[in-house]
Amino acid sequence: MMEAKDGIEGLHFLKTEVADLIFLDIWLPHMGGVDVLKHIKEDFPVIPVIMISGHANVDLAVNAIKIGAYDFLEKPLDLTRFLTLTRNALELEQLRKENRSLKNSSVKEDQMIGESRSIKKIREIVNQSAPSDARVLILGDNGTGKELVARAIHNNSKRKNGPFIEINCAAIPDNLIESELFGYEKGAFTGAVNSKKGKFELADGGTLFLDEVADMSLNAQAKVLRAIQELNFDKIGGEKTVSVDVRIITATNKDIHREIKAGRFREDLYFRLNVVPINVPSLKERISDIPLLVDYFMNMYKAKTGEAKQLTAEGMDEIQSYVWPGNIRELKNFIERINIMTDSNSISLETVKKYMGEKKLIRKSPLLEKFGTMKLNEAKEQFEQEILKDRLESNGYNISRTAQNLGIYPSNLHSKIKKYGLEVKK
Ligand SMILES: Nc1ncnc2c1ncn2[C@@H]1O[C@H](COP(=O)(O)OP(=O)(O)OP(=O)(O)O)[C@@H](O)[C@H]1O
Ligand SMILES: [Mg+2]
Repeated sequence: MMEAKDGIEGLHFLKTEVADLIFLDIWLPHMGGVDVLKHIKEDFPVIPVIMISGHANVDLAVNAIKIGAYDFLEKPLDLTRFLTLTRNALELEQLRKENRSLKNSSVKEDQMIGESRSIKKIREIVNQSAPSDARVLILGDNGTGKELVARAIHNNSKRKNGPFIEINCAAIPDNLIESELFGYEKGAFTGAVNSKKGKFELADGGTLFLDEVADMSLNAQAKVLRAIQELNFDKIGGEKTVSVDVRIITATNKDIHREIKAGRFREDLYFRLNVVPINVPSLKERISDIPLLVDYFMNMYKAKTGEAKQLTAEGMDEIQSYVWPGNIRELKNFIERINIMTDSNSISLETVKKYMGEKKLIRKSPLLEKFGTMKLNEAKEQFEQEILKDRLESNGYNISRTAQNLGIYPSNLHSKIKKYGLEVKK
């Protein structure tokens, strides 16, 4: 608790101290309490202020409430009223704080950002397929957002209040996958001191996401096939069959058709899983989404740390002109990195380049490369000159023939030749 001898000193404190609640006398030397209140409300509108007034100036206190005071206490102070008001005001302050942090965290972590045609299409499929229990197979490169799509389907389905259980099939050794998926009973094998539920059982009433499904052994594939066909299975060492109500979503970054051809993935399982296929494109096929994603990740960093940094336009251009083999995951990590490594408020092109490392430029067509960063009109004129020169030459500098070849009037060709000062050999 801090005490100020007058309003001016009080305002001074507020510059360096954090206040949860202010008691402010109406009757103060130098600057009246109501004026002090106005200053406080301007600079710190959310700190609750309780006015203290003598009997003679209750009207001033009422007026203060109109300006934004929380309430007022009359002298002599009544202890009960003092305590009640204080508690209420502090609760209000707490509530406001929570609201503020809620607002700040409005950058939700699991949004699907993007306005490119491909991402719109994905959103459409997600919305269409979510309500049903249809199995979905999600294909796409590393870090393109396959898991995000799987979660979006679950969250938009009628199972959204049920569990979303994920299992990474590539991370589990073949001899353990069965017990991971189906669980075991106590005493099923040495070391099974307790029974354990498998992922299928844990996902009952919800969604089971089998990630990296193409990395499963053929043996495990056979068991999964049987389980999803019948939606029941036997626990290892179990006597009775367990049946579950589970929606299956799978994902892989492998070329599944090649896996099937090579005999590493069961075709019948593929048909079972691939009721709704979703292809998540890599970032280089949707570069128009890069700025949106970068802004989103910049905001996410801001919400997490409270540090608001700006990325320069040149920095943004640079980010957009590279191939991101690790796709959105890599881009997200990169944005976090440049934020952490920058001390100032602005993230420069140099910083971007420095942390970009050795990356491949997105290859533009030679035609586009040539026009560099020209403005549209400049590029159009450049192109016009070149095509005119070329056609004039190939038509032996015959004006009417060249004009016909280009599909324009000879008079029009004449004026263009003049405009660009083109050579017309006779
Ligand atoms: N469209 C998107 N908008 C915003 N963030 C996204 C988007 N797609 C992916 N992300 C984010 O990128 C990261 C990688 O996404 P996710 O884990 O879903 O990819 P994945 O394809 O499953 O990757 P992996 O192949 O490595 O398993 C996550 O942090 C995710 O939130
Ligand atoms: Mg994944």
